Amino acid sequence: MARAKTVFCCVECGADSPKWLGRCPECGVWNTLVEEIGPPASTTDTEYAAAVPVPIAEVVAADHAVVPTGLGEVDRVLSGGLVPGSVSLLGGEPGTGKSTLLLQVAAGVARAGGKVLYASAEESPQQIRLRAERLGAVEANLWLAGVLDVASLIAEVGRLEPDLVIVDSIQTIHDAELGSASGSVGQVRHCTSRLVTLAKSSGASVVLVGHVTKEGSLAGPRVLEHLVDTVLTFDGDRHHGMRFLRATKHRFGTTSELGVFEMREAGLQPVGDPSAVFLADRQPGLAGSTVVATMEGDRPLLVELQALTASTRMATPRRSAQGVDAGRLALLLAVLQQRGKLPVDEFEIYALAVGGATVTEPAADLALCISIVSALIATPVPSDVVLCAEVGLAGEVRRVGQLDRRLAEAARLGFERAIVPVGCAVTASSITAVPVGNLADALAELGLIPPD
Ligand code: TYD
Ligand code: MG
Repeated sequence: MARAKTVFCCVECGADSPKWLGRCPECGVWNTLVEEIGPPASTTDTEYAAAVPVPIAEVVAADHAVVPTGLGEVDRVLSGGLVPGSVSLLGGEPGTGKSTLLLQVAAGVARAGGKVLYASAEESPQQIRLRAERLGAVEANLWLAGVLDVASLIAEVGRLEPDLVIVDSIQTIHDAELGSASGSVGQVRHCTSRLVTLAKSSGASVVLVGHVTKEGSLAGPRVLEHLVDTVLTFDGDRHHGMRFLRATKHRFGTTSELGVFEMREAGLQPVGDPSAVFLADRQPGLAGSTVVATMEGDRPLLVELQALTASTRMATPRRSAQGVDAGRLALLLAVLQQRGKLPVDEFEIYALAVGGATVTEPAADLALCISIVSALIATPVPSDVVLCAEVGLAGEVRRVGQLDRRLAEAARLGFERAIVPVGCAVTASSITAVPVGNLADALAELGLIPPD
């Protein structure tokens, strides 16, 4: 067998280098190269190397039969379910509920007649059984294994022939052939590539758990993204119990869908009406609060955006963005300052999406601007109004897609007026659409008159 050789690998982007460098030549981040014992040359992927070119017209398209997981919110994000022979990576900070979600997925697949192997090096089978009892996930077709070694996991899969293999987590299993410790970049990449080969050869779907820290310091999902078919992220606001599942890469479908759950005593419950949950604690008459109609994939979602302004003597006043894009906030503040002639540079500005939601769509621009002005002049926005428009650098209001679906959702939740971009055709009749051409029009329409 070929001898293992030393390489240096970037923990940020996974790039290899034959020698140590202070700065990664690929991603440009400093001090990220660590020494790894590379995998023996014989185990590198030669699957495609010998492939002879074929005219595209003669290739028979593979039909991706999807296997539903039984959890509607997971199937929505996966465009129907898990694809046999595919590898998915579920990333998230420790404690968000990845193990809980996958145990529920495992039980769902087992209940529908699939054979599932849940391999965990993090918890013992006894601990998992206890949790499964609480989740109602004790199924005859669900098998548990407490493996640490990738070779024995592969052997077990060969014996059991499961339809779904869950590995919790990729950072805790290792290959004894490599010298490095579990969780190191080399181990994580090498074990993943062996599991990719296993998925392709056995036809089982493989789901890997990958822990990420806020600092991204652990060797984790980021170096694996190009190896796997699907990358899922699971996050949320711990204090609210809301959890969000998104696909950031998906070879078999769209990446725009959002799955919403609530963490309860008996595990993760799907949230069928997330708009209602996001608006549940909303109090009318608060300055600095607006509601935006945003789209998450195919589903419209109403989210409350709040802003708070506090006067400051600091030369560079503080800006804080939670659940909204910090770059977008800076841009909109510049528009308010330059086009709206508002003295936002004299204030600290805090902006957030309520309930742990994340709103990055430009369609939230107008709502964010109006929240800031409303906070700045201490005047509330009428509570029956929903906003939906992008704001350009000249302070002009720009169109957004799927306006009808957004307004239908707002009407369903009892909103009566919608501030929308001028020129947008609105056919929904149960809500009054008020078209505006620029920021000043929107402010006037809402009765927000900044002092001179
Ligand atoms: P866990 O799935 O272990 O998170 P991860 O695998 O991402 O580290 O669960 C995290 C938390 O969820 C745990 O601290 C307790 C809570 N939890 C509930 O509130 N209800 C439940 O039914 C379960 C199983 C967990
Ligand atoms: Mg876990």
